[in-house]
Formats: sequence, structure tokens, C-alpha cells
Amino acid sequence: MTHSSLCAVLDHYHDSDWRADLIVVTGDLIHDDSRRAYDHFCELLGSIGTPVYCIPGNHDVRALMREALDAPPFHYCESVEAGDWLIVGIDSCVSGRAGGHLEADELARLDSEIAASSASNVMVCLHHPPVAMGSKWLDTVGLDNGDEFLERIKVSGKVRLAIFGHVHQPYDADHQGVRILGTPSTCRQFAQGSDTFAVDENPPAYRRISLQSDGNYQHELVWLTT
Ligand SMILES: [Fe+2]
Repeated sequence: MTHSSLCAVLDHYHDSDWRADLIVVTGDLIHDDSRRAYDHFCELLGSIGTPVYCIPGNHDVRALMREALDAPPFHYCESVEAGDWLIVGIDSCVSGRAGGHLEADELARLDSEIAASSASNVMVCLHHPPVAMGSKWLDTVGLDNGDEFLERIKVSGKVRLAIFGHVHQPYDADHQGVRILGTPSTCRQFAQGSDTFAVDENPPAYRRISLQSDGNYQHELVWLTT
């Protein structure tokens, strides 16, 4: 089902008149711990002809993922500059745990990549939400040092956007001048506000983000309603 719904999302993209300069995949590329699953992912995403930047999620297997994404158009947890923007992928995963944590060296890498870039604007991509979702079960598997992350990106003065996956539902809020965006899954969605695990009837989705050279941006959540 995840394979067919991802195909439907890609078909939707191909049929639309909107084109991306690059694709960011915010983790959980696979679910069954197999190299074969990554090969399927690469086959589908590789056919688009656009660079694909991926960060790991708790369902990924870092070693297999690195190996599968070791050549263009794929990039594993890498940063890229585009116009006056720096896009940074960071790893929030902890082996053997569904919840996330940003280690000190990963936060330091984020700081140094921002400092080393001449770009005036930054978008940070991570798997776990740095904010509470208001859903009891999901908030036990969020980012346990989200406050530290939010403080660090605020201090940088350059981070305009932070985007995440993991929670299979939309999220859009401003946190002291930084836009925090969660994008639903390309397959099933989790019921918002639920105390326990539950899926809802929302369709697969993806998000289009347009980064402008003056630091402004637009974004649009696209649901596959048809
Ligand atoms: Fe996840």
C-alpha cells in the first residue's frame, strides 16, 4: 500500500504543472528493514530527474540507507545551497527508539553549517517534530530536546523554516519568527489530537515549498483528494 500510494503522489506531481528544483524526504523511507525496500524507493524517486535529499527517520536503517543513497540524484543527510538559501538536513534519530533526540554533535554541525554558509536564509529538515502535537501517544515519541533545537535556530537569526515528518499529519505554526511545518505522509495519516494510535481518512499528501531569494517563502499542502 505504501508503494502504490507513493506512486499516486508521484503521478499527481507529474500530472501537475508545478516543478521542484529539489525534493526533500523527511525520513521513514521504508518500514521493513530491507535493502530491497530502499531500491524500490530509489527506482521511484530516481525517475523524476530531480535531486532528492533524504534524512533518516526512526524506521530507517542508517547503514542500508546510506548505501542505497550514495550517488546522485540521492543525498543522505546533506546540506545544499540554492539561491540565498541553505537547506540543512539533520539526523534526529536514536537507534532502537521511536522518539528522537538531537545529539550535541548534530546541533554543532547545524551551527557550523549555518556559520560557514553565505546564504542569508536557512531551512532545516529533520524527522521528529520539535514541538508538541497535542496527541498523547505521538508526544511520547517526539523530539525530547525540541526546546533546545528551537532556541538554537532562533539564536542563529537565519533560520526561516523547519520542516519535519514522522507524525503523519499537517502542522503549521510560527515559533518566534521561525515557521514550523509538518507534512503528512504519502500514505495513511494519523488522527490529529488522538490520545492513542488511530488513523483517519485523510488521503496521501505532499507539500510544495517555494523559497524566494529575499527570504520570503510560500508553501502549499497538496492532498490527493481525487
Ligand atoms: Fe517516524
